[in-house]
Amino acid sequence: MLDKSDNNQENNHPISIENLQEKINQLEAKNKQMIQQHDQQMKQLEKELNNLKSRFITTVSHEFRTPLTTISFSAGLLENYSNKISEEKKQTHFQRIKQGIEQMTSLLEDTLIIGKLDARNLEIYLTSVNLEKLCRILVEEMQKRTNKHEIIFSCQGSSSEGKFDEMLLKKTTINLLSNAIKYSPGGGEIKFDLICENQQAIFKIQDQGIGIPKSDQDRLFTNYYRGKNIGNISGTGLGLSLVKHIVDLHHGKITIESEENQGTKVIVILPLNADERSQE
Ligand SMILES: Nc1ncnc2c1ncn2[C@@H]1O[C@H](COP(=O)(O)OP(=O)(O)OP(=O)(O)O)[C@@H](O)[C@H]1O
Ligand SMILES: [Mg+2]
Repeated sequence: MLDKSDNNQENNHPISIENLQEKINQLEAKNKQMIQQHDQQMKQLEKELNNLKSRFITTVSHEFRTPLTTISFSAGLLENYSNKISEEKKQTHFQRIKQGIEQMTSLLEDTLIIGKLDARNLEIYLTSVNLEKLCRILVEEMQKRTNKHEIIFSCQGSSSEGKFDEMLLKKTTINLLSNAIKYSPGGGEIKFDLICENQQAIFKIQDQGIGIPKSDQDRLFTNYYRGKNIGNISGTGLGLSLVKHIVDLHHGKITIESEENQGTKVIVILPLNADERSQE
């Protein structure tokens, strides 16, 4: 509909056919311009999505190649030299094959969970978990992966029983411990304190590794983001973003304190009963 100023009623000049045609032409040109802008924006978004996809595929295939190479090497050795190598050596290669498979399974699981999170399609299943017991098992498992580091676990508080999604909680702890190991290439102590008090579980994981540059610290929870100082340490940049999502799903908090070349301390605080929190 034309407004007052358009038909020039104020000046008592009825709008002419030419003026009307000109107005239509202007509107058509504006419309065309907007469609072009929209198309350009869509193309830009599509380009960014494709970049992200190809970066993801490159990273994931690289992360798969390392364990696959180990598995293939150890399996080949066991197949061809079975009667020439000691029982101890055989066990080492069986362990390497198992670890390689675990690494690939975990990468696939993380990718699937991230996919579900992005589609807002991840549900958590809360069950009773004894945190101290779970953490001791995970520490033992992670300690087997390294002989350069010593993981020192401590548990304080009267009861460490709470309601959590056990699978997601395991992922969180494993991701944080594996970061502490991976980013301390020189080895050393990794302190893992579990404190259960005031209806909260506090996980503190502290290493003496390469630390995180200040300029990277704001973006650690972004998918695929990795610090500038990682050198050739492998990773997909998905771990911490997964951890942050899991902590949020449990109504918890995560903070990271780090100094480059001094080490990193990650603190995760979770309510012992996330179920009650979600009903608040
Ligand atoms: N304990 C740590 N010490 C030093 N840097 C860390 C530590 N934990 C995380 N970072 C930095 O944060 C980045 C993101 O960590 P995140 O766990 O998300 O990914 P990643 O370890 O690179 O890969 P992934 O966990 O998927 O294998 C890392 O690339 C690294 O730069
Ligand atoms: Mg990681």
